[in-house]
Amino acid sequence: MVFEINEKVALITGGANGIGLNFAKALLSKGLKGVTLADVNENAGIEAEEELNKTYGKDKAFFVKTDVVNYKEFEAAFKATVEKFSHIDILINNAGIGADGIWRKEVEVNVVGTINGMILGMDNYLNKYKISDEGVIINTSSTCGLEGYAQWPVYSATKFAITGMVQAWGSPAHYERTRVRVLEICPSATETDMLGVGQKFLSPEYEKTMKYIAHEIGNLQTSEHVAAEMIKVLQNANNGTIWVIENGEPSYEYVLPKRQTFKNKN
Ligand SMILES: NC(=O)c1ccc[n+]([C@@H]2O[C@H](COP(=O)([O-])OP(=O)(O)OC[C@H]3O[C@@H](n4cnc5c(N)ncnc54)[C@H](O)[C@@H]3O)[C@@H](O)[C@H]2O)c1
Repeated sequence: MVFEINEKVALITGGANGIGLNFAKALLSKGLKGVTLADVNENAGIEAEEELNKTYGKDKAFFVKTDVVNYKEFEAAFKATVEKFSHIDILINNAGIGADGIWRKEVEVNVVGTINGMILGMDNYLNKYKISDEGVIINTSSTCGLEGYAQWPVYSATKFAITGMVQAWGSPAHYERTRVRVLEICPSATETDMLGVGQKFLSPEYEKTMKYIAHEIGNLQTSEHVAAEMIKVLQNANNGTIWVIENGEPSYEYVLPKRQTFKNKN
């Protein structure tokens, strides 16, 4: 059955910019009742809130300054969402940085931040405060979460971590108790501010390895395309599934093999 977006409420981390902001636009244009933009960047957050309310109607968007690494701050964004809109149905764990040069921070934002979101969404808020019989959590990983890229070992590791989370939290055992579907999307290179930030590499030696994978990166796609494909995944995908969104093309499901299929083969 297709998940209905109309009159639902969403919380999007990293929603002040880039892919996250386009997720908010795509959901609001499908009749979403309201969206919380939970982002650490106050200026961009206020600007995004104003832009969305001007385009989609008064009080549709709500910025809450949030560092996803800080569990209490992140929980405050959930509480504020329920107070303002009275329910919460969709969580998009999207905040992330690509910055191997400051890799401890990268691990915190991409891994700890997503785990915080999973625990809050699955066990504390979407399970209790969804308006219909199902909630949905979408996690933004990357094609680097399916194939390690030589130039970004730590970034790749953080995005593989999300794949592990979706495998575990997306199991029927959790769905049965929470009625929350858990999904993963893996965009390839997408035109956003993230691509332009400094401190991307562990050292210049890592940057030089770019030439080995250039052919795998493909064409830059737009955030609008990623958002349009995310909507299809949100509405139709089965619990625990992983979806690649690359090169501006239609999304496709990526299926991890069961390890037993390799047994006795070598
Ligand atoms: N741009 C790409 O090529 C690409 C490809 C695949 C996956 N992704 C993933 O997509 C997601 C969104 O990235 P983007 O390209 O839109 O980048 P972006 O830099 O445009 O947006 C990221 C947003 O996350 C916010 N953020 C950063 N740290 C935060 C924190 N601790 N707490 C809350 N918010 C925080 C930033 O302020 C920003 O608004 C990330 O998870 C990224 O890893 C991006």
